[in-house]
Amino acid sequence: MVRTLALFGATGSIGQNTLQILRMYRHQFRLVAFSFHRNVDLAREIAREFQPRWIVSTGTSDLQELEGIPVLYGKEGLQEVAAQPDVDIVLVATAGTIGVFPTLTALEHGKRVALANKETLVAFGPAVKPKMAAGKLIPVDSEHSALFQLVEGRKEEVVEVYLTASGGPFRTTPLEALRNVTPEQALRHPTWRMGKKITIDSATLMNKGLEVIEAHFLFDVSPDQIRVVIHPQSIVHALVYLRDSSALAHLGYPDMKIPIQYALTYPERWPTEIQPLNLPEIGHLTFEALDMEKFRLLALAYTALKEGNTAPCVLNAANEEAVYAFLEGKIGFLDIPKVVEHVLEERVREGITGEDLDSLLFADRWARAHARSVIQRLAS
Ligand SMILES: NC(=O)c1ccc[n+]([C@@H]2O[C@H](COP(=O)([O-])OP(=O)(O)OC[C@H]3O[C@@H](n4cnc5c(N)ncnc54)[C@H](OP(=O)(O)O)[C@@H]3O)[C@@H](O)[C@H]2O)c1
Repeated sequence: MVRTLALFGATGSIGQNTLQILRMYRHQFRLVAFSFHRNVDLAREIAREFQPRWIVSTGTSDLQELEGIPVLYGKEGLQEVAAQPDVDIVLVATAGTIGVFPTLTALEHGKRVALANKETLVAFGPAVKPKMAAGKLIPVDSEHSALFQLVEGRKEEVVEVYLTASGGPFRTTPLEALRNVTPEQALRHPTWRMGKKITIDSATLMNKGLEVIEAHFLFDVSPDQIRVVIHPQSIVHALVYLRDSSALAHLGYPDMKIPIQYALTYPERWPTEIQPLNLPEIGHLTFEALDMEKFRLLALAYTALKEGNTAPCVLNAANEEAVYAFLEGKIGFLDIPKVVEHVLEERVREGITGEDLDSLLFADRWARAHARSVIQRLAS
C-alpha cells in the first residue's frame, strides 16, 4: 500500500531529511504536496523530482505555478491540502506558529500528523490537546519519538520521564564568558545539524525547555515529572523511570531520519540507511546534572509551564523574537533570557489570558510586539 504524504517545510532541515527517506522508499510513499517559504530554487527542484499535485508557498505570493504544478498560498493553502481525502499523513516541519493550522485541520480530518514543528504544542497546546484523540499525532523530535516508544503501553507505570540534552556548544563555558558569545559560536552545535533558530535554542537550552512543555502535552505528565539531564554524546534520547525503580532508555545515533521515518511508518519499523549502534566505538556514555542558573531559559520554561494558560505561548514568542535579534547582532546572548523574563512578567501584569486558539494567537502577537520593544531598549 502506498502512503501519501504532505510535507510542510520541505526546504528545511527536517524536510530534506524526509525527502531522503522518500527516495529510499519510492514505492511505499508518494509525496502529494509540499510547502516552502522563501527558497524557490529548492522548491523548484523538489517539484521537478517528486511531481506532487499541490505546492504551498507560505512566504512568496507571486507564483501561480512551479514546474506546471499549481501553487496555493499561506495558512489557507496548508489547511486546504491537510483536508484533502487522498492525503494520509501530514508532516508538519515548517518553522513558526503557522504549523498549528494544518495540524488542527489534519487532526480534525482524522489523519496522522507527524509533528516536528515545536510551536504547535508549545504555544497552542491547550487548543490542540482536545483534538489529539481524533487523529494520531506522532512526534518527530528525537526525544519525544523516544518517549512515545517508551511510554506506549505502560503509561500507568511511568513515574518520571527524562529528556536528555547535549548541553550545546557552551556546556562547559562559565556563565560569565557567555556574555560575549557571537552568533557564529552559538551556531556550532556539537552533535546535531539543524536550522539556525533551533540551533541557537540548543545553545541556550531553551530548546530543551520547549521540549519539556511539549512532553507535558504529549504524554500527560506534570512539570514535576519531567526531568532534563545533560548527556553530551546524544546517544540516549530519553528515559522513563518506572514505579518498580527500574528505568528504560531509548538509544540511537543522532540522526533525525530515524525518528522521522518512525513517525511515517508507525506502528511498523523499517530499515534505515543508518548503521547500527557500535557501542565499543562509542566507548562511554556520560550524564551530568544541569545548571539552571546558567541556562536561565530552561528555568523560565518550567515556570511558564507551571503557570500554564498563555505563559508557554508568550515564552515561545518572546524567545523567537530575541533569538532573531541575537542572530542579527542587535542584542547579546545573555540578553535573550532577559527579554523572555521581562515579557513573561508583563503578561501577568497585563492579564493576557485564554486557552482557545484565538486567545493564544492574540497572546503570541502581543508577546512579539512587547519583546520587540524590550529588544529595542536593550539595543539602544
Ligand atoms: N532540525 C531538527 O533536527 C528539528 C528537531 C526537532 C524539531 N524541529 C522543529 O521542526 C521545525 C523545523 O525545523 P528545521 O530545523 O527543519 O528548520 P529550518 O531548517 O529552518 O526549515 C524551516 C522550514 O520552514 C520553512 N519556513 C521558514 N519560515 C517559515 C514561516 N514563517 N512560515 C512557514 N514556513 C516557514 C522554511 O522554508 P524556506 O527554507 O523555503 O524559507 C523551511 O522549509 C521547527 O519548529 C523546529 O523547532 C527541528
